[in-house]
Amino acid sequence: MSSREIRIAPSILAADFSALRDELASIEAAGADWVHVDVMDGRFVPNITIGPFVVDAVRRCTALPLDVHLMIVEPERYVADFVRAGASTLGIHVETCPHLHRSVAQIREAGARASVVLNPATPASSVEPVLGDVDQVLVMTVNPGFGGQKFIESTLSKIETLRRWIDERELDVDLEVDGGVGPETIARVARAGANVFVAGTAVFGAPDRAAAIAALRRAARH
Ligand code: DX5
Ligand code: ZN
Repeated sequence: MSSREIRIAPSILAADFSALRDELASIEAAGADWVHVDVMDGRFVPNITIGPFVVDAVRRCTALPLDVHLMIVEPERYVADFVRAGASTLGIHVETCPHLHRSVAQIREAGARASVVLNPATPASSVEPVLGDVDQVLVMTVNPGFGGQKFIESTLSKIETLRRWIDERELDVDLEVDGGVGPETIARVARAGANVFVAGTAVFGAPDRAAAIAALRRAARH
């Protein structure tokens, strides 16, 4: 059966890293479902963030599942490290994986849920052959690399296509969106078919994080 459970996954890219333990406690208390962790290497994307060492520290600060988003070249070299560090879900960009089917199997064998991630310019068809082998598809709704960017509208039809395929085949695959997701955009991506919502600025930048998460969840239920 296809899963439509709504999950809000705040991205710690927008958190205060000098107080990471408090930031994690704050979103956990505010009702977050997952913690989204953005790993960037300065090669696949222009920005550099964190590695397995910090993921391990994050895991020790929260009971929430970690949704780890790898924006790195040759991600297969680091799958085992990130799963060992505590990734519940591990996402790899299709643009970085010439052997996508093998890399997805590698994630599951290591013991995590496998997620495949598409850049805004990458078509839905690039993941169609592995849809039955993954636990999640993540559609980037901004170009990866930075928080706080503007939502790209043209990604909506790709979300609709993927939702149709998932439902037609009755797959148990989550459809996640990431980038520029907030109070103004979440209803539209939910209507298009997404059920997992990454939100950095919209949660960590809000004066009341519990209210922000509750409002996102309400809007996502449309
Ligand atoms: C961008 C990251 C996102 C980012 C989202 O490359 O993958 O997870 O943190 O940030 P917002 O929600 O602020 O657009
Ligand atoms: Zn992300």
